[in-house]
Amino acid sequence: MNDFQDQLAAAIKQAELPIERKWWHTATVYQVYPRSFCDLNGDGVGDIPGITSKLDYLKSLGIDVIWLSPIYKSPMDDNGYDISDYQDIAPEFGTLADFDRLVSEARNRGMGIVLDLVVNHTSDEHPWFLESRKGPGNPFRDFYIWRKPAPDGGPPNSLKSSFGGPAWTLDPLSGEYYLHLFSTRQPDLNWENPAVRAEIYKMMNWWLERGIAGFRMDVIDYIGKQVDREIVHDGPHLHDYLQEMNRRTFGNRDILTVGETWSATPGSALLYSGRNRHELSMVFQFEHVTQQWDEMFGKWRSKPFDLVKLKSVLGKWQYALSDDGWNSLFWGNHDLPRAVSKYGDATGYPAESAKMLATVLHLMKGTPFIYQGEEIGMTNVPFTTIEQYRDIETLNMHRLHIEAGLSPEEFIKGANENARDNARTPMQWSAAPYGGFSTGVPWIEVNPNYPTINAEREMTDEKSIWNHYRKLIALRKRHPVIVYGIYQSWLDSHPDVFVYSRTLDGERLVVVANFRAREVPVELPGELRMPGECLISNYEPVDRLDENLTLKPYEAFAVLARTL
Ligand code: NOJ
Repeated sequence: MNDFQDQLAAAIKQAELPIERKWWHTATVYQVYPRSFCDLNGDGVGDIPGITSKLDYLKSLGIDVIWLSPIYKSPMDDNGYDISDYQDIAPEFGTLADFDRLVSEARNRGMGIVLDLVVNHTSDEHPWFLESRKGPGNPFRDFYIWRKPAPDGGPPNSLKSSFGGPAWTLDPLSGEYYLHLFSTRQPDLNWENPAVRAEIYKMMNWWLERGIAGFRMDVIDYIGKQVDREIVHDGPHLHDYLQEMNRRTFGNRDILTVGETWSATPGSALLYSGRNRHELSMVFQFEHVTQQWDEMFGKWRSKPFDLVKLKSVLGKWQYALSDDGWNSLFWGNHDLPRAVSKYGDATGYPAESAKMLATVLHLMKGTPFIYQGEEIGMTNVPFTTIEQYRDIETLNMHRLHIEAGLSPEEFIKGANENARDNARTPMQWSAAPYGGFSTGVPWIEVNPNYPTINAEREMTDEKSIWNHYRKLIALRKRHPVIVYGIYQSWLDSHPDVFVYSRTLDGERLVVVANFRAREVPVELPGELRMPGECLISNYEPVDRLDENLTLKPYEAFAVLARTL
């Protein structure tokens, strides 16, 4: 057996023990993209005082934890995922005093702040990199990953950057290449260097002392990379580093940690989040996202939506982490398209489909994450020209794809579906100019649908998407079956309908959801047919699960029954 199999076997053994209950099992997390959330000083860029001004909004939704995308000092090549000072705040977002106030105001309302920990790489303006760049003799040289050119003078190997092109850039000063798995301005830190790890842990402790409630860890599966073997994720020491980090920083604190891991499998998720592993609370896995991407062109050419596949992926993760480890649950984030545009019907049935998606996700086992604006049904943005996009990934990919012969129209079509800016247009607070996000011209255009899709309108309508989210969040707090119930899927091969149950202590919750914009008949298995209490529905309440149901377009409901 190799190391990985040994570790996995140990993790599975642990799974046979009862789960230890944690506060974040019942919590709902809300992700704020600070640049686009709320701009109080009118410079067109969202800021920390803006976030503080919306704490009551988040509290009334029922949110427990707020994850902030990076707020640190940064040249903003990748909107803050390129940090030039880990212990300061980007001036456009505010000051450390603003941050401390946000933490304490959140705490006063019973909410915690989770920071984005971006430690796979820094900005090329970070003082460590400025030093490192000075040449091989510099004490910070080994903070980053430098290699001599290949014999032909080209990059040392064929590693690629996620933002297009080689992952290596030649620095003329020393004649060596440095590694950047993202933009040329995001050099990768060398985690094999104990001095790097010690600095990172020191910085993490400094933030923990400020009273934060946790960390979301950016591309954390990359930190064990071994570049000479072209291993990027799941390197041989990845879990050693995470255990060391846990020991030296947050291990003895009761916080929430979630790792962004595009490479995670159900097996490795148990390594990250299994009990007694002393690593993380949970990871974000992306299998339900990438199963819709083209094998060759990735997200720039998506496949037709396949509900059977989606159910099997989500179900696989529910089963795999049912007794040990913990799932995160999400449809969207700042890198993904808007959920209702991707999986629902943003034009025909915007409210019904948004509520259906929320119902399916929030009643699964795991911690739900809501991406800002999802709770009011914000949609993808219909940009028509590349000039309207701001994201470095989209701009780089545009250049590369056009050079490779793709027509500008085709590229925009792909971007309209999957570009990251779909999620990054300003939060739509009201029908006021710029959606009430700012009094100045926003850094990226507001989605033109803000007069009809906005928080003010949603909050006053009892049957709104917003109120549906609010109900779901409250249900999780009230019903342990939603938090800990055993998951079971039904009608796995039904092409249009998602049915699952959750069972705990003589109670069974059955969730039924139609993923189509038309009526769909469904025959329920005998075991599920019984009367019960309808906890939530996006049409009329259903309090009896009969043999033959006809579901309305995007209809979704959950019925709680006693089985004993
Ligand atoms: C993942 C983040 O979510 C994304 O926004 C960022 O561009 C990359 N990591 C690089 O930090």
